[in-house]
Amino acid sequence: MDASHFSSLINEFKPGIFGALNEKKDALLRAGRTVYNLSVGTPDFQPAPHVMKAMQEAWGMAENYKYSLSDLPELLEAVQYRYEKRFGVHMDTDEIMSVYGSQEAMAHIGMVFCDPGDVILVPDPGYPMFEMSGIMARAEVRYYTIEEKNGYLPDLDSIPEETLKRTKYMMVSYPLNPVCVCAPDGFYEKLIAFAKKYDIIIVHDNAYSDITFTEKPGRSFLSFEGAKDVGVEFYSLSKSYNLTGARISFVVGNKDVISRFRLLRSQIDYGIFYPVQHAAIAALTGPDDFIEEQRQQYAARNRALCSGLREIGWNVPDSQGTMFVWAKIPEGYGSSADFCMELMEKTGVIVTPGSAFGKGGEGYVRMALVVDETVIRKIICVLDESEMFRRPTI
Ligand SMILES: Cc1ncc(COP(=O)(O)O)c(C=O)c1O
Repeated sequence: MDASHFSSLINEFKPGIFGALNEKKDALLRAGRTVYNLSVGTPDFQPAPHVMKAMQEAWGMAENYKYSLSDLPELLEAVQYRYEKRFGVHMDTDEIMSVYGSQEAMAHIGMVFCDPGDVILVPDPGYPMFEMSGIMARAEVRYYTIEEKNGYLPDLDSIPEETLKRTKYMMVSYPLNPVCVCAPDGFYEKLIAFAKKYDIIIVHDNAYSDITFTEKPGRSFLSFEGAKDVGVEFYSLSKSYNLTGARISFVVGNKDVISRFRLLRSQIDYGIFYPVQHAAIAALTGPDDFIEEQRQQYAARNRALCSGLREIGWNVPDSQGTMFVWAKIPEGYGSSADFCMELMEKTGVIVTPGSAFGKGGEGYVRMALVVDETVIRKIICVLDESEMFRRPTI
């Protein structure tokens, strides 16, 4: 069947650069080459034993295989407990809803707010699902610029009034994947006032508040005064708890949004698998020292990778947060995709071209901190030997 059988929406979906990178990776593996894959955003750390135990126990009970239909009261209480303990935020149970990962929430949230043609605002560069949330709802996606020279924070005053009048919601996320910066508290205070002024809903994706490398720990958007009046936050267990495959995240915040979103999702799914709910309860209420230990390991990898790259002549700033590093490509390459292909060919190191995150990502690459320091040191040696970088002369 050809494209005419399918919707204009699905015809817009393309494998893009990831298809090409995968083909190249397979070819290198077939040729017996060593591949260092820094392109994936899946943690190499394991879930805590008490979380796996809770999943296993629930898994052995026949009644846990029914449609769950709704969140267990204990699950909602667990989120309340975690938000109070970790972020100092009190939430009512009608301000919380589970989803099959933030990715799923983003695929559907546009439908809660937008009619076709309404405007949504997303960062460029940004995590690809931000724009997809609008595309899936047939909304018009407009991009707000974020640049290295401004710490990758948007200049809210520069967004045209005409855009703001038509905007239903704005995706915001710090620490931001892929640019790896955190936002100062003052930014959120300004954002909330801005959202109130223009009657724009803020959707804050908080995937990485537990993986920050700055002095102050990551915060929740909801910990800022007035946030619940203007928006919601996605709180995923994927990265903090190494549960990417379990598919569990929460939408928390404004109760009018949550109730509409719950209504929409009641037509889409019949609730989270009970064993996953039990694992989430154990994660959110159990011991959490491993989160800090893990954060320190990510921080050590971040230092090892960035300082190692600087030593061999690639001037990469330390990441402030997320499980990634964001680097400007060396001069002399036509595009970040060209650079990635050559890097892979010469060294076996796979990184993601910045262009995969929007036009504003061109000229950069993203590297995931998913290998330990020994492997990072090996990678630095391999890159150094490739002669793609020039060591600084003293
Ligand atoms: C910024 C951001 N949001 C959301 C997700 C996906 O989260 P989940 O596993 O809950 O769907 C990721 C995963 O890489 C991410 O980087």
